Amino acid sequence: MLAVPPVLPYPAWPSMSVRTQRAREPARGVTPPLSVAPMMDRSDRHFRRLMRLISRHTLLYTEMITCPAIENGDRDYLLGYDDDEHPLALQLGGDDPSALARCAAIAVERGYDEINLNVGCPSSRVQTGNFGACLMREPERVAACVAAMRAAVPVPVTVKHRIGVDELDRYEDMVKFVELVAAAGCDRFTVHARKAWLQGLSPKQNRNVPPLRYADVHRLARELPDLAIEINGGIRSVAEIREQLVHVDAVMIGRAAWDDPWMFATVDRAVFGSTAPAPTRVAVVHAYLESIGPWLAARAEPRRFRGPSPTVLLRPLMNLFAGWPGARRWKRALNAKCQAPTQLGELVELAAELERRGGAPRQPSSEPAGLDVF
Ligand SMILES: Cc1cc2nc3c(=O)[nH]c(=O)nc-3n(C[C@H](O)[C@H](O)[C@H](O)COP(=O)(O)O)c2cc1C
Repeated sequence: MLAVPPVLPYPAWPSMSVRTQRAREPARGVTPPLSVAPMMDRSDRHFRRLMRLISRHTLLYTEMITCPAIENGDRDYLLGYDDDEHPLALQLGGDDPSALARCAAIAVERGYDEINLNVGCPSSRVQTGNFGACLMREPERVAACVAAMRAAVPVPVTVKHRIGVDELDRYEDMVKFVELVAAAGCDRFTVHARKAWLQGLSPKQNRNVPPLRYADVHRLARELPDLAIEINGGIRSVAEIREQLVHVDAVMIGRAAWDDPWMFATVDRAVFGSTAPAPTRVAVVHAYLESIGPWLAARAEPRRFRGPSPTVLLRPLMNLFAGWPGARRWKRALNAKCQAPTQLGELVELAAELERRGGAPRQPSSEPAGLDVF
């Protein structure tokens, strides 16, 4: 059996970001310089487990979970995670301070390391509930939500937001929002560096059409040096992460983590300053397949909850060889196992073969069609 070193306690790394070293009382916790973004229908516990096998230090976020879902739904299903996933942040969707405080407390009781409020989602469903990006128009409400959550839990309470929405998109508007929410105790701001249009663009278009405004986020970090500022949007390589860390405390990566998870194989060393050896793909595949064993076994048990399908369990591995010779062969082999999930050891052998052959320069990948859920 291939040994995978245990996850280190949180935090256990010297940050590579100069800004992160700065004392920032009374903010809670430390700011990990890198995180994997909340992504509906992607950053489930299986994808997170894969990412944790690749990087031991990167902060991982759940998909957004709404307060009504937590208060009325199946909490074991919604909030369940594996111990190895730490450090792990729960992203909440909601606009009611009391409900958010209750849900934050429930999550912290279950061991989450951070609570994050979604102020960036522009989908019409979310707008109907008056949360997500439309809350950029209500900084006082967001501040009340943050204050309520902070009073309810001892862990960092953070906010993920946009530069602005609709015509409320000037740098000064964002500063006003951030200052009000900071005064309520927000411990970190993750800024998706583009505005959102609340009407007329789909969520997917809202991730691509409004131009990226990195300069505004850098200026925010410069002008409000006591706040922890994380930048998000369009960052796709370790070199780009390091460039951003000159200006901000942290970088959040969304689509590139899904399109090319192996990009994270070097981040523990390159971003967190770890001296541990980088993992090998074959070890990661082996450990990941072992981790889904109990889930697959549960499906074979007729009287039990059937759990996720083999496709849901195997799809995190789909892009593991993105940009490498044999990537197509890898996907074909995985697709076959989605249909018939037996003899998974063959995937380990294939990973070993592809890894032995070595890789080619990476091709930039793009957001695949058909996952426009957020
Ligand atoms: C499929 C998908 C689902 C997403 N779901 C969420 C979500 O649940 N909460 C959230 O705050 N952002 C969500 N986002 C936005 C990402 O977190 C991120 O802000 C955005 O993709 C820009 O970063 P990137 O260019 O690194 O992907 C989602 C993005 C994608 C592609």
